[in-house]
Amino acid sequence: MAPAHVVHARGLTRAYRRGAREVEALRGVDLDISPGELVVIMGPSGGGKSSLLNLLGGLDRPDGGTLTVAGVNLTTSSQGELDAFRRQHVGFVFQFFNLIGTLDAAENVALAHVARGEGWSSARAQARETLEELGLKDRVDHRPAEMSGGEQQRVAIARAVAARPDLLLADEPTGDVDAATTGAIMELLATLNRDRGMTIVAVTHDPTLAQYASRLLTLSDGRFVG
Ligand SMILES: Nc1ncnc2c1ncn2[C@@H]1O[C@H](COP(=O)(O)OP(=O)(O)OP(=O)(O)O)[C@@H](O)[C@H]1O
Ligand SMILES: [Mg+2]
Repeated sequence: MAPAHVVHARGLTRAYRRGAREVEALRGVDLDISPGELVVIMGPSGGGKSSLLNLLGGLDRPDGGTLTVAGVNLTTSSQGELDAFRRQHVGFVFQFFNLIGTLDAAENVALAHVARGEGWSSARAQARETLEELGLKDRVDHRPAEMSGGEQQRVAIARAVAARPDLLLADEPTGDVDAATTGAIMELLATLNRDRGMTIVAVTHDPTLAQYASRLLTLSDGRFVG
């Protein structure tokens, strides 16, 4: 049975220690996300957007509150459970594509399957399929240096969704590409949401994606506002 919520968060707090000072990045965040939603998070620099995404993706743990993602309680899980959670349940897209330069596009995408314990040849075959579906058929054997920024980011998105995660997290995925490329990347995210029902949380100020969002949230000074 599918869980009612992909994300269920109550009173999330996260503070970082910087020297003697404590920075409260999240000051009590409540968030419920249903399957198939496309949630866009905006807000000023330093507002806590990346901090929140890191918690949702199990890259970091909250100091307070409760958080369940894809049915996994991330408040109480061990480091090993968090690692497994990331492999099984979430895909990440970052501002910088983080592709491996010595591997071609198909191999980069195949890593998502290998991380889940699949053999290399089946992983590579599935990766080619995903790349074809995402319109990157002609780029499967290109290395990152042989692709444009937009193509690299689309490969990074293919890698993030290859293993069909319950939640795709994108933190300013077009922060490092030009305006024309931004449109293509945003359209791809919107298509994944619409056609595959992929649940997505994206941090972006881009109006293209915002227009497809099921919800627009503003995070400022560690809280949702408005
Ligand atoms: N690892 C860290 N150590 C100390 N302080 C941090 C750390 N990461 C973030 N912060 C601080 O926490 C606050 C929230 O940062 P966060 O990166 O979540 O904001 P953001 O909304 O993603 O900003 P931006 O739009 O600039 O990416 C900021 O004051 C930031 O300086
Ligand atoms: Mg950020």
